Amino acid sequence: VRALVVGASGGLGLAVAEVLRERGAEVAAAVRDPARLRLRGRGLGFARVVRMDLADPGSIEAAAAELRGDALPDIIVNATGVDARKSLAEHTLEEIDRVLDVDLRGPILLTKAFLPAFLARGSGTIMHFGGFADGRLAFPFYSADVAARAGLRSFVESMNRELAGTGVSLCFFSPAVADTEAERPFMPLWKGLGIRPVAPEAVGRAAAAALAEGERVHIMGGFSTRLFAAINAVWPGLADRLLLDGYGKALRSFLAIAGTGAGH
Ligand SMILES: NC(=O)c1ccc[n+]([C@@H]2O[C@H](COP(=O)([O-])OP(=O)(O)OC[C@H]3O[C@@H](n4cnc5c(N)ncnc54)[C@H](OP(=O)(O)O)[C@@H]3O)[C@@H](O)[C@H]2O)c1
Repeated sequence: VRALVVGASGGLGLAVAEVLRERGAEVAAAVRDPARLRLRGRGLGFARVVRMDLADPGSIEAAAAELRGDALPDIIVNATGVDARKSLAEHTLEEIDRVLDVDLRGPILLTKAFLPAFLARGSGTIMHFGGFADGRLAFPFYSADVAARAGLRSFVESMNRELAGTGVSLCFFSPAVADTEAERPFMPLWKGLGIRPVAPEAVGRAAAAALAEGERVHIMGGFSTRLFAAINAVWPGLADRLLLDGYGKALRSFLAIAGTGAGH
């Protein structure tokens, strides 16, 4: 199996790349800065490294053009993502653009760029990483982030209907809270809320298993996370009372204490 991990420089991207490699896949990496990936020693072991900035449509097209023929991946795992956890008032225009570009427009353009070759071959899977829970659980102080993730989840569903019978499919993958460098500053918040983070390797293994099973949606975090997401979908007021009001309060005070400021 030939795999391409987009965002292989990230905590979860690297973990999924390692698990896929252990399971016998030939793994290529797509990153914003190939030199930095090599400097970190992470270039080692990748079959090839291509440049791709999800905020730059030209770079996505160029990478897809480079990875044709024998280099065309069977699976693509897009483990990129950025977030902005703060009140909407504190989001700058640049931050809103960055979140929408990397978490929503970029994945759409990535899919579009590889789709013709996948369809011509009659096979291919693209897994997009979303945020915590089902993509539609709207945490307060994550406004632009959750808008992008919910959009991505709907995009994946829509595309799977569009692609029915072609041999090509998409998967929306929602990681559990994982102890990556990027997430580490928020660990006191998650621990305070009773959420125990998993190791990045556990996310890598879950992603590899979801790919092997051909799942279209995979939500980590156990039955309680899936149940809560389902409750939120049908009865958001109940989700508020059960959990989200409390999360809101905890986030507000945590963000204010951390100095990133929920503000109001
Ligand atoms: N860790 C968790 O607890 C957790 C839980 C749920 C969901 N998630 C989601 O899972 C994804 C990965 O999380 P992580 O903890 O591994 O974060 P991370 O270590 O910060 O990794 C993010 C990755 O995205 C890449 N990226 C950012 N902007 C990009 C752009 N414009 N073009 C291409 N790549 C770009 C980064 O590349 P550079 O190295 O070049 O910056 C990096 O490889 C994110 O979407 C995150 O929100 C994480």
